[in-house]
Amino acid sequence: MSRIALKLKRNKSVLDALAKIDTNRQHHKLFSTNSQSGRLAGKVALITGAASGIGKAAAIRFIENGAKVLLADVQDHLGKSIANDLGPNAIFIHCDVANEQEITNAVDHAVTHYGRLDVMYNNVGIAGTLATTILDLELEGFDRAMAVNVRSMVAGIKHACRVMIPHQAGSIICTASTAAILGGIAPHDYAVSKAAVVGLVKSTAAELNQHGIRVNCISPHTLPTQLVVDGFKKLWGIDDEKKVAEMTHNAWEFKGATCEAADVAEAAVFLASDDAKYISGHNLVVDAGFTCFKRLNFSA
Ligand SMILES: NC(=O)c1ccc[n+]([C@@H]2O[C@H](COP(=O)([O-])OP(=O)(O)OC[C@H]3O[C@@H](n4cnc5c(N)ncnc54)[C@H](O)[C@@H]3O)[C@@H](O)[C@H]2O)c1
Repeated sequence: MSRIALKLKRNKSVLDALAKIDTNRQHHKLFSTNSQSGRLAGKVALITGAASGIGKAAAIRFIENGAKVLLADVQDHLGKSIANDLGPNAIFIHCDVANEQEITNAVDHAVTHYGRLDVMYNNVGIAGTLATTILDLELEGFDRAMAVNVRSMVAGIKHACRVMIPHQAGSIICTASTAAILGGIAPHDYAVSKAAVVGLVKSTAAELNQHGIRVNCISPHTLPTQLVVDGFKKLWGIDDEKKVAEMTHNAWEFKGATCEAADVAEAAVFLASDDAKYISGHNLVVDAGFTCFKRLNFSA
């Protein structure tokens, strides 16, 4: 056999081997997707801010993974209709997270209705004042952002662990943000409130380890939910949801993917599940590396 023919033959066997690996990968992908479908089987979860965006996506994925979900929100009509669409494993409760008593009621409702609470997902957050400079920051607005974005999560953790400690088990998840990590990408009140969430998670995780309760947070990159659409409208008068989606998706490049609410929901499913049984005090950043690195663009 000539050297060229031999080389072609070798190349063909390499290509065949690669094709086989690719087929195996596809099989593996199918297999792992199927095996993940019941990752939350038997678990009861309370998700706040579940009438929209990340909370709604999480409610969908939790139920697909076998959980029973109590959706909590201030948008009663929307929340009820989503719970209705999700079927028998979803119910809705009105809950303003800025009011501790309403969080107490929601947690107690999960226990009376479903008999237990395994997962508390403190997800509500508001954009805050949208003040672009420290001089423009009204402190009443700052207090409101801290009340809804931080105080509510303190109350959520407090009341969730009240019913989890007797079982010596549970998973508590909070929604933080990349604004907790990197300055300059959000107004001060929002950024400070989200940084406080990361601190709160570490502090409470340290205490709750002894009870088998894990506390983690998720920090998503920007994605075009109602919170962002409303923010863009107020800040820049942009009233076109498609345009906002395009702008947020272009805010960071990762070939082949954009940040979607479903990506954050997947991270929440993982943290809620027993797959994450040894993970606590962690901030799971869903940002395709946005807060990790900068690149040097050398030009000759
Ligand atoms: N969208 C993003 O780019 C982004 C990025 C990082 C972090 N986050 C965080 O994700 C979380 C979810 O936001 P989203 O983007 O899905 O926004 P969203 O506006 O789509 O959903 C927020 C939900 O919270 C509810 N809510 C607001 N105030 C409430 C209150 N006091 N009590 C109960 N419910 C209340 C709203 O009715 C709404 O259904 C927030 O904590 C937000 O800060 C969002």
